[in-house]
Amino acid sequence: MNTVVLGMQWGDEGKGKAIDYLAGAFDVVTRFQGGHNAGHTVYYQGQKVVLHVLPSGIFYPACQAVIAHGVVVQPLQLVEEINNARALGLSMQNLALSENAPLILPFHQQLDVVFEDSRYQRIGTTRRGIGPAYEDVIGRRALFIKDLLQEEVFRSKITSLAEYYQRLFTAHGHAAGSFDQTLDQYLQAGTFLKPYVSNTTNLLQHAFQDKKNILFEGAQGTLLDIHLGTYPFVTSSNTTIAGVFSGTGLSPKAVDRVIGISKAYATRVGEGPFPTELKDESGRMLRERGNEYGSTTGRPRRVGWLDLVALKYAVQVNGVDSLFLTKLDVLDELDEIQVATAYESEGGSGDRFFVHADALSRVRPVYQTLPGWQTNLGAIRCLTDLPLQVRSYLNFIEDFTGVGVSHVSLGGEREQTIEINC
Ligand code: IMP
Repeated sequence: MNTVVLGMQWGDEGKGKAIDYLAGAFDVVTRFQGGHNAGHTVYYQGQKVVLHVLPSGIFYPACQAVIAHGVVVQPLQLVEEINNARALGLSMQNLALSENAPLILPFHQQLDVVFEDSRYQRIGTTRRGIGPAYEDVIGRRALFIKDLLQEEVFRSKITSLAEYYQRLFTAHGHAAGSFDQTLDQYLQAGTFLKPYVSNTTNLLQHAFQDKKNILFEGAQGTLLDIHLGTYPFVTSSNTTIAGVFSGTGLSPKAVDRVIGISKAYATRVGEGPFPTELKDESGRMLRERGNEYGSTTGRPRRVGWLDLVALKYAVQVNGVDSLFLTKLDVLDELDEIQVATAYESEGGSGDRFFVHADALSRVRPVYQTLPGWQTNLGAIRCLTDLPLQVRSYLNFIEDFTGVGVSHVSLGGEREQTIEINC
């Protein structure tokens, strides 16, 4: 079953763990959007590893790990990540990098920081240059991995793009940093990456025709989608199902199943509305118990109750078949758990999600209180051993969203996952 794994919230849903759990059954694992703004945490041979651009398939030598053309790539960062993976004993011979992946260049990162530090467009980005790199794609002036492999082409294209950025920085009252020092580093990175580079659309098309099992590894979450998320507090790619097709070159016919990943509560990093945010002691407790600190930036995450209005929206826009619910164990000590089931707004009360930030920042969540389980879930391996209150919590989510929960995760380890046939 070709399977897409997508975040249902604002990222950090535990996709790394879920994908790592599922990846062993697949011949191919491909990333299709985002860049090194992502941080997928997995445990490999007892060691915590955070992947940023490398697909989780790299841990399985028989699995082809693909970075498709929808992903924006910072070559120096990718070289470092590959070297770190090699240091873990992974051969990396199973990695394929798209020749058509757009490059993140030093001025992208610099511009991201300039905008973040200015008052008029503070999004709380990861400051990795993701937005400006995608802007260049839309603006039809991007450079790609294949450009990096031809020194003369790269030097010539980068010179004209650098002039463009020079003017942009001047307009914003900043001096553009010189690219000269890093140009050689970029070219060296190109030489390093060359053995991995190929046309990944062809590769994936062949895999599909040969009936290989493909896992599509989403990054960030639905509510950060450039078109369907809480604009403007979003990332710059399609984090939703549409990104799979534009980002790989495969068609909807190549997808058999969509799994939505959601925490049993909610978190968000960066700016933007978050209706169920908890700013009190329970929020602090959930942050500590859930270790809610960004795996890419280390920033403390904002924490709140599960928002079923938002989750139902995410299920609908992605055509989700089942949910993979993570971090249930973080709720272990609570005697009561709240879930938002409607929003009150100027227009009355309802369970419609508001996409744009202005409208969403004005809603008041309506909560339903459910009983907690006050049991340590970490050691449970079987559905029937789950306390009744956990099963009621799962049933409530299923009834509200209209899809079944196929997996629950009760801790960071692979074994702390229960599969439910729904
Ligand atoms: P950017 O993707 O760095 O441009 O950041 C845009 C927004 O997306 C900010 O609110 C970031 O905190 C958020 N964001 C980007 N990547 C991730 C992620 O992997 N997890 C959670 N939030 C993210």
